[in-house]
Amino acid sequence: MSVYLNGEFLPRAEAKVSVFDRGFVLGDGVYELVPVYSGKPFRLDAHLHRLQLSLDGIRLANPLGIAEWRERILQLIALQDFADQSVYIQVTRGTPVEGQPLRDHAFPQGAPPTVFMFAQPLVTATPGQKAAGVCAISAVDNRWLRCNIKGISLLANLLLRQLAVDVGCVETVMLRDGFLTEGAASNIFVVKDGVLRVPPPSNLMLTGITYDVVLELAARHGIPHEVRPIAEAEVRSADELWMTSSTKEIMAIVKLDGVPVGAGVPGPFAMRMDALYQAFKQDVMRL
Ligand code: PDD
Repeated sequence: MSVYLNGEFLPRAEAKVSVFDRGFVLGDGVYELVPVYSGKPFRLDAHLHRLQLSLDGIRLANPLGIAEWRERILQLIALQDFADQSVYIQVTRGTPVEGQPLRDHAFPQGAPPTVFMFAQPLVTATPGQKAAGVCAISAVDNRWLRCNIKGISLLANLLLRQLAVDVGCVETVMLRDGFLTEGAASNIFVVKDGVLRVPPPSNLMLTGITYDVVLELAARHGIPHEVRPIAEAEVRSADELWMTSSTKEIMAIVKLDGVPVGAGVPGPFAMRMDALYQAFKQDVMRL
């Protein structure tokens, strides 16, 4: 398996970065995760745009232009011997050069960013898992106020997600000041009385690429939807609750905090949206 590190494609065991890399010592970097279907990256431009926003958010100059990113990502994909992939991209503020402090909160002078990418087989939910749905718990969103940056310092998300894993669930639905923000690693949609509802993009959540696709599909297929703040009571009285992400796609949450959501099984809107999403993927891959 080849990985990409700072301009080179290398066997995974040969890819090495300094222990003084600011990603390792300070969590000073950003990332992206791009799903690849049949060797074709899904919504690559949107992922690269979001990467740019994250880099801008941490005041790190993008080390590569769009065309260079595209070329390297396509090369990495071509080097793998599996067709469906999840490509992980990470850019850190690099390793301080000689004469600079080894660890300093202040940005180092002259340190080239570290660019690292690898691909793994993409594991999406099976039809059986989709038909069963998953359980989730809720928790207070205690992350920082810049959740729109896809930063590698994921401690708060990890701790929140683990709360769900500890009780045999797959996601933590987060609430801040009485309003829905997102999942620990996904966006959360509510369906009530035939209307799809989702919080608007803000600094309190990451705007998922899947989130955007779902809203586009809803608009295209005439599914009523509202993008507005969602109160906790609306989450708790939802007919359907979904989590969406590049790896989970559209996954129904059938139990929240031990209480069945709606009928306690994946609802008709989740099933319809998943079918639309799968068809959309197929169309895009044919291009
Ligand atoms: N995470 N919100 C958070 C906090 C996330 O971590 C993710 C995805 C999303 C959904 O984004 P998208 O639809 O672009 O995948 C929302 C990825 C999958 C991860 O960290 O592995």
